[in-house]
Amino acid sequence: MKALVLCGGMGTRLRPITHTMAKQLVPIANKPVLFYGLEAIRDAGIDDVGIVVGDTRKEITEAVGDGSRWGINVTYIHQEEPLGLAHAVLISMDYLMGDNFVMYLGDNLIKDGIKGFVESFEKTRPNCEILLARVVNPERFGVAELQDGRVIRLVEKPDVPLSDLALVGVYLFDENIFDAVKELKPSWRGELEITDAIQWLVDHGLRVEPHVIDGWWKDTGRLEDMLEANSIMLETIKPDIKGHVDSLSKIEGKVRIEEGAEIIESTIRGPVVIGERTRIVNSFIGPYTSIYFGVEIIDSEVEHSIVLECSKIAGVPVRIEGSLIGQNVEVIRSPLKPAAYRFMLGDNSRVGII
Ligand code: G1P
Repeated sequence: MKALVLCGGMGTRLRPITHTMAKQLVPIANKPVLFYGLEAIRDAGIDDVGIVVGDTRKEITEAVGDGSRWGINVTYIHQEEPLGLAHAVLISMDYLMGDNFVMYLGDNLIKDGIKGFVESFEKTRPNCEILLARVVNPERFGVAELQDGRVIRLVEKPDVPLSDLALVGVYLFDENIFDAVKELKPSWRGELEITDAIQWLVDHGLRVEPHVIDGWWKDTGRLEDMLEANSIMLETIKPDIKGHVDSLSKIEGKVRIEEGAEIIESTIRGPVVIGERTRIVNSFIGPYTSIYFGVEIIDSEVEHSIVLECSKIAGVPVRIEGSLIGQNVEVIRSPLKPAAYRFMLGDNSRVGII
């Protein structure tokens, strides 16, 4: 069994963060989303992992390397243009040939991993196994219709969903999928859809096994999902204080403070992770917050948010919450007169003021 991890795509729903970074590398509880997937693949006993990369190839290869950190062998496969998930399978055919494989979308997070799913595929040997989850907004996903426990129809982002069963971004295939992807025509969004390829398998009488998961799953493609994923993963952290906490500070609940971090005259209310060399001074960090490395937070309050590396928040008079703050961002109270908001915001930025 091999794995094919998809790390292409433009990440349009997470702009402006994705103007400068791959969506698969945005950290959840201070660890890139993609790393959770690679751990899940390794824990399922898979050693050979192909990673399909596009425009963000450089960042992904720098972050993942040859995979030895996880004990896996990584091969990179270049996708010139983001032409769809089935296109990614098509260009990976030489790499995958001769093996069954699990395809894993690099921005998906499945809390309980994929071990059970891989084991059931190997035991029952269908031609394809799909993971499904009940969602409240199926029109945002590929949607499956089941009858007597069998898959009868799959539609990508339907206007009128046939059911509330969304396709989770993890799929298991045998070699029949190659015949399917060769036959596909681009969809309305100009992509070769894996959903259509699976429909092709159904139409050709091949066995497509559905597996409805009850555990937690998130496609982290949007800010709200990212924050929710962050909250859920923070619940699972082990409290550990490696950095320095002064005697005037208070640490409450599950909190991890990495090496070189400093907490001065502040309250940290978990679940929270604070990255290496981050300084928190005279501030409040509230529940469900991840602060990455090299950040400074001074005279401010931050809650239910993700702050990326080397940013600075100082003297902000109102609590910041529900926010994703990028790398090297400054949110600072300005002493300049006239007193006014002064912004330099990238394309597609969003600011909520009171
Ligand atoms: C893709 C698939 C969709 C699936 C989703 C899961 O959507 O096309 O069927 O439900 O991933 O994350 P996309 O992220 O390309 O919009």
